[in-house]
Amino acid sequence: MTPRPGRVLISETELRARIAELGAEIGRDHAGEVPVLVGVLQGAFLFMADLIRAVPMDVTTDFIGVASYSVGTRSSGQVRLTSDLSMPIEGRRVVIVEDIVDTGLTLTYLKRTLEARHPATLRVCVLVDKIERRKVEVALDYVGFTIPNVFVVGYGFDHQGLYRNLPHVAALETDGPDPV
Ligand code: IMP
Repeated sequence: MTPRPGRVLISETELRARIAELGAEIGRDHAGEVPVLVGVLQGAFLFMADLIRAVPMDVTTDFIGVASYSVGTRSSGQVRLTSDLSMPIEGRRVVIVEDIVDTGLTLTYLKRTLEARHPATLRVCVLVDKIERRKVEVALDYVGFTIPNVFVVGYGFDHQGLYRNLPHVAALETDGPDPV
């Protein structure tokens, strides 16, 4: 059976409320500065769009692309850069904006890559933490939601390129009937 979005894990209302809090926290921690928020493509683009509007100060934005998943819901364990930042970040206060931390391999790679460019500070904001699945320890500064070990779709999260446009986060389920 084709997997489809099923049970709603995080509703639109919950997303909005928590992202407002995350934006306020980022604002407090970077008071008097202009941080650069770096969205990780593709999954974080919706989160990034809502988060930057919740940060009550000037920010700049940039994007970085990484690929970590090869087939279906299984991680290949390999991470590679698919598109780089458009600007240098040396001396800047940087916040990585990531959709989800699963094994931790992607974020570890990203942090190492960006640290090497000597930002003034480097923090990490993730919408969803799947802590049970962690293979490598990685420090997170801002976490939206912690969820159990389920594959999620919606609000930027995809399965084979689909479902990013759902307004909420849902579990990918295989037990429902196929649509006719
Ligand atoms: P990690 O390297 O295993 O931590 O995986 C991080 C990346 O895997 C994320 O940026 C997502 O692109 C993808 N990923 C992990 N879990 C899910 C999920 O439940 N739904 C959709 N994508 C996921």
